[in-house]
Amino acid sequence: SRRITVRDIAAAKERGEKWPMLTAYDAMTASVFDEAGIPVLLVGDSMGNCHLGYETTVPVTMDEIAILAAAVVRGTKRTLVVGDLPFGAYQEGPVQALRNATRLVKEAGVGAVKLEGGERSADQVELLVSSGIPVMAHVGLTPQSVNAFGGYPVQGRGEEAAQQLLRDAKAVQDAGAFAVVLEAVPAELAAEVTRSLHIPTVGIGAGLDCDAQVLVWTDMAGMTAGRVPKFVKQYLQLRELLGGAAKAFAEDVIGGTFPAEEHTFH
Ligand code: KIV
Ligand code: NA
Repeated sequence: SRRITVRDIAAAKERGEKWPMLTAYDAMTASVFDEAGIPVLLVGDSMGNCHLGYETTVPVTMDEIAILAAAVVRGTKRTLVVGDLPFGAYQEGPVQALRNATRLVKEAGVGAVKLEGGERSADQVELLVSSGIPVMAHVGLTPQSVNAFGGYPVQGRGEEAAQQLLRDAKAVQDAGAFAVVLEAVPAELAAEVTRSLHIPTVGIGAGLDCDAQVLVWTDMAGMTAGRVPKFVKQYLQLRELLGGAAKAFAEDVIGGTFPAEEHTFH
């Protein structure tokens, strides 16, 4: 069966169907999500925090995204793979954005790219879309601006900020984006944005009324160390399970019970 495309995503909004999105950073994990029927996988720059050991998404490079996005494409058959444009890969303008997005399409084989920003990124979205590259936009809390935000505060609170968020979402829709992530936005505002757009909204910390929901897979699976944000639901305690398996292996080796007879050649 063929891969899911942005046309399928548009059709889902028309039918009023909700859909899930997860991040993925490697072929094996991606194949699990592909087999589980997750229709869209994001090779997010959250790989900075969740896969590469950086403190934020800011240091993530195009090379890192391209390598891991290629792995996710290789690991999947059905899923639409979206590659994130990292900080510094599109802020110079539409031509830079097109050069880097083209790299992800040609080298990694992604079906779409994502970038942060509403009105400020609309020109980039427009050139990419008119060049044949589907774009998912991302407004509200945009983590690449962590140094400007001074952290990760909820966005769109207050009338002025709410109006700006609506303008940002409309701007990327008008520029041709096929979907828009709403991150850390009050549920009532996210619902209003969702009602006023014809493209799907993908919520993360944006309430129940978005058309789709996304979680970082390591958060969703309980792999992340320490505190997770309020909007995360952990469906598994993978960190504990995997740590337990590593401890059991260590005990077997130290105690001389691994390898057993059935693991041994003669
Ligand atoms: O990089 C990422 O994982 C993201 C999602 C949280 C939307 O941008
Ligand atoms: Na991201």
